Amino acid sequence: MKHIKLNNGTKMPMLGLGTYKIGGTDVDVYNSIRSAIDVGYRHIDTATLYKNEAAIGQAIRDCGIPRDELFVTTKAWGTDILTGNIHKAFSLSLKMLDIDYIDLYLVHWPIKGKEGNTWLEMEKIYATGDAKSIGVSNHLQHHLEKVLEVATIKPAANQIESHPYLVLDDLISFCKHHNIVCEAWSPLGSSKVPLLEERILNEIGNKYQKSPAQVVLRWNIERGVVAIPKSANKERQASNIDIFDFELTSEEVKLINSLNKDSRTGIHPDEIGF
Ligand SMILES: NC(=O)c1ccc[n+]([C@@H]2O[C@H](COP(=O)([O-])OP(=O)(O)OC[C@H]3O[C@@H](n4cnc5c(N)ncnc54)[C@H](OP(=O)(O)O)[C@@H]3O)[C@@H](O)[C@H]2O)c1
Repeated sequence: MKHIKLNNGTKMPMLGLGTYKIGGTDVDVYNSIRSAIDVGYRHIDTATLYKNEAAIGQAIRDCGIPRDELFVTTKAWGTDILTGNIHKAFSLSLKMLDIDYIDLYLVHWPIKGKEGNTWLEMEKIYATGDAKSIGVSNHLQHHLEKVLEVATIKPAANQIESHPYLVLDDLISFCKHHNIVCEAWSPLGSSKVPLLEERILNEIGNKYQKSPAQVVLRWNIERGVVAIPKSANKERQASNIDIFDFELTSEEVKLINSLNKDSRTGIHPDEIGF
């Protein structure tokens, strides 16, 4: 596993497990997390929205891996922010997970006109020590500029939709310039687009005896972006994390970048409404 240093010095594993809709029942969620940890995942991404924090926390407590070897992210949902309940939401996430502290707490989506004030509340959460790092998600450059205007602590991370159909080089460069680590959600394009059928990804995969999914995930590592693919299937979980024994050439990275269409599978951050 490769790690990336956040701007407060903490280290984040560059490949994590996404957990949105990872199971129909708490038992499914629990089993998926246990299998992911078994095959080597040490970074789990969840959110209040996913309603799976309790099962994830149980799996983490039972797995036998020391807490400080695991990295857990959760996120504040917009309605909790809008109603002034972000601190309550954080406490509830911590209680549901029951894992002593959260490694990274994120603002799930920007709320127009409230980016700065929300961030000041996040800084208060950071000050309690119960969130080891704080960051944002789905923030475009103009949202980040509002945060940075008021921040005394810079966001450690920005979790954004990104895959070869949505490369977002400019936003990623802006974040790098401000020492904010980018994380790619839907790194495989979710199941909504046939990204993994792309000829370029298959040809590069054949060269390294890797799958198109492994090529895409490795591409994120090469460009310094953390990836959090979701899989409920133990074999795909194992395969998605098996990307640290090959490297893409700069020519291959360029070829993958050329798949960009600036097309999203999810909602545009300026269009989210709460
Ligand atoms: N911050 C945000 O607003 C936001 C938004 C969306 C998502 N996220 C986070 O990002 C995570 C990942 O995004 P995502 O779940 O939308 O999409 P994704 O990880 O790109 O794709 C998941 C889909 O790909 C399948 N899959 C996984 N590994 C595969 C492989 N090796 N080959 C072929 N198919 C494979 C999964 O099915 P199986 O499970 O059957 O393997 C699932 O259908 C989420 O789970 C969540 O934690 C964050």
